[in-house]
Amino acid sequence: MSGVDYDLVITGGRVIDPALGFGREADVYIKAGKIDEITTDVDKSARAVAKLPGDKIIDASGSLVVPGLIDMHVHLREPGREDKETIVSGCRAAAAGGFTSVCCMPNTDPVIDNQETVKFVLSRAEEADANVYVIGAITKMSKGRELAEIGDLVKAGAVAISDDGGFVQNPEIMRRALEYARMFDIPVISHAEDRFLSAGAVMNESFQSSRLGMKGSPAVAEVIAVLRDIKLAEFVGGRVHIAHVSTAGAVGAVRAAKAEGVYATAEACPHHFTLTDEEIGKEFSTSLRVNPPLRTQKDVEAVIEGLVDGTIDCIASDHAPHAEEEKDVEFDQAPPGMIGLETTLGLVKTRLIDRGYLNWADAIRKMTYNPARILKLPGGTLEIGSAADITVIDPEYRWTVSEKKFRSKSKNSPFVGWKLKGKVEYTILGGRVVFQNK
Ligand code: DOR
Repeated sequence: MSGVDYDLVITGGRVIDPALGFGREADVYIKAGKIDEITTDVDKSARAVAKLPGDKIIDASGSLVVPGLIDMHVHLREPGREDKETIVSGCRAAAAGGFTSVCCMPNTDPVIDNQETVKFVLSRAEEADANVYVIGAITKMSKGRELAEIGDLVKAGAVAISDDGGFVQNPEIMRRALEYARMFDIPVISHAEDRFLSAGAVMNESFQSSRLGMKGSPAVAEVIAVLRDIKLAEFVGGRVHIAHVSTAGAVGAVRAAKAEGVYATAEACPHHFTLTDEEIGKEFSTSLRVNPPLRTQKDVEAVIEGLVDGTIDCIASDHAPHAEEEKDVEFDQAPPGMIGLETTLGLVKTRLIDRGYLNWADAIRKMTYNPARILKLPGGTLEIGSAADITVIDPEYRWTVSEKKFRSKSKNSPFVGWKLKGKVEYTILGGRVVFQNK
């Protein structure tokens, strides 16, 4: 085989693939959009590289070469709010953040509760810089009253169902959703928030909400909802995935469920392992309004503990773009949500890895193999023959989060101005460089 056959060779990086249990310096050969070979044979590398033009070689010395990151929880806003984000712009942000795959939530306008809308999203995604997987709605228009045609959604390509943004308050409907989802072997993703307990809330219920005179949502609103959905999943033998875990009680509930053998998985977002509700009173920045809300230090520590001990399987951004004019209002008037695709990796490195909570392999597992396994997605590994979706990371690169540099159409990030370590150098999708940090 002649070296010139390769599309791309990534040389000298530390290749980490938690799925394969691989973690050492090696060269990755990409051919016809697929991973052709990974070798530690320096001679072979030199021979192959000598025959290749420069633009087909990435020198990754000092960098990490990992499977393309997967974000299982993003809002792409198309159809309906293309002013905030489109599938193309959201995927550009994903590529800049090192993500080669994203799973988009169905709370668009119209809601992704039917085959046509799934197909529309997938067709728009064809021209995008990331693989897009669709999460269909659990109920029609996500109103919680009547199940969506779950079989149809799956047939059109949905990889999970969720009414994210709201809780399926009626347990009978959630029970049926879990039963249908089990038939199709997909998880039901629960936005766990008892709506009666959280009604009217704009932040966490705590000393801070009393101090600021704002209506808070108590932690127990999340805990009750998590416990109910775990019990329902156990009862029907289905799979529940708890989105954006934010409270110590929810971490404990998922931990106990796993210990009892219930098929429950969970994700946590960077803001919930980084920020507390104390931040809100400082400037009343509406970027801090998010749902579930920022909680207390005790909750932040519990979320980190859950990430460390494996209770929380995945790290997901909950990238939720909102228009400037919608966020440029009083705190309690702003819609909840913050963007996250372009800051997640830096926050994972700066707040989890550098502080000694996770090593790179564990962190990468939570952003590759684990979401792929839960949603049965292709990828999440550098296995020979798989699509060459690869992220090259400079682990020591220091940068300051700048609003101007966001690829996302929206800028609602509370991390603007933060100094982070760890940055994507290259994002490669099917052998094609879709992002390069210049
Ligand atoms: O803060 C949030 N924003 N939480 C959600 O559950 C939905 C999301 C959105 O779509 O804006």
